[in-house]
Amino acid sequence: MNPDLEKLQPYPFEKLNSLKTGVRPPADKPHIALSIGEPKHQPPAFVIEEVITHLHGLANYPVTKGRPELRAAAGGWLTRRFGLPVDSIDPEANLLPVAGTREALFAFAQAVVDRSRYPLVLAPNPFYQIYEGAALLAGATPFFLNTTAENRFLPDLDAVTADVWQRTQLIYLCSPGNPTGAVMPVEQLQRLIRLADEHDFIIASDECYSELYFEEDAPPPGLLQAAAAMGRDDYRRCVVFHSLSKRSNLPGLRSGFVAGDRELLRRFLHYRTYQGCALPPPTQAASIVAWQDETHVKANRDLYRAKFDAVLDILQPVLDIERPDAGFYLWPKTPIADTDFTRGLFERQNVTVLPGSYLSREAHGLNPGAGRIRMALVAELDECIEAAERVRRFVESL
Ligand SMILES: Cc1ncc(COP(=O)(O)O)c(C=O)c1O
Repeated sequence: MNPDLEKLQPYPFEKLNSLKTGVRPPADKPHIALSIGEPKHQPPAFVIEEVITHLHGLANYPVTKGRPELRAAAGGWLTRRFGLPVDSIDPEANLLPVAGTREALFAFAQAVVDRSRYPLVLAPNPFYQIYEGAALLAGATPFFLNTTAENRFLPDLDAVTADVWQRTQLIYLCSPGNPTGAVMPVEQLQRLIRLADEHDFIIASDECYSELYFEEDAPPPGLLQAAAAMGRDDYRRCVVFHSLSKRSNLPGLRSGFVAGDRELLRRFLHYRTYQGCALPPPTQAASIVAWQDETHVKANRDLYRAKFDAVLDILQPVLDIERPDAGFYLWPKTPIADTDFTRGLFERQNVTVLPGSYLSREAHGLNPGAGRIRMALVAELDECIEAAERVRRFVESL
């Protein structure tokens, strides 16, 4: 067996299941899960119809690069959404469809890391667990950048020493962040691009929550937007990951794309041809119409906004909890240890949340997720309100 498999941590949900083992929640309260970041709003009907209409396409092998129409639709969306210079995203060269960003975030490290040079892969902490596994299986050492309330949940680039930058081959960003919801400002993205030039590393920006924001006229900026604003519309060293899972409530479609530096994407395509993860034809057809429509995405944001308003009204009087910059998570502080809070809440109120410490690692003398929980506001409004009321009752009983 590959010995690096031994380095992989149990996934947070495995740890959560162990934490809940033997606990008996009250039978009179239906269970509410705020622990899983799976969108629950209705997917757009016209996208589902497109899947059905194109089922006959299953008779053919799809190509890894995807249909030109899909690359054009995704590239058009990316250009419009981030105000990129017209034609700077050539759908032939700067973009590749992927079977959800999870596999692509993982695969990207396997393609770009040179394991012979003691590589470091940087990632925020707490973080989406794939970054760490991707780094380890690519033969790199993960190096974590703690994101805490003191630095507005953004990685502190000044805290990284020159010798760390020197060994860095790849950095994962997550903006809007999971679990913190923090959005990296353009200036910080540009600073990182300059560091990438100086120390020769690649920036992989996971932007899969970019469409879930609160103010219609203030969408979160993206890495390619920051690059273009510096006059770098070749997007050198930069790639972004976008997904239909959260934007369009289509986590089961397994559809997203990677875009940016054409040379990186050329090599990544080569890698992917061997990996063999082409999108099924019905998925491609459905993705085309999904990227072309914004009405359903705005309706989605409206639903999240209503839930954040209602839940924050209930919880702010009793918990240290803030509205995030974007995304669908709340990341409150817990008055007791996050694991005790999670177990107690399940035991007394039959609500499941995720301990923050399960999403982060001890680094630089602290575990930045400890003392917080992640609550995903994915359920319907009524259920989120019910969950918030039960969390409040639990906090008041402590
Ligand atoms: C930060 C982050 N990145 C990527 C993903 C993967 O999304 P998908 O593979 O559905 O595109 C998730 C899913 O939860 C996520 O939270």
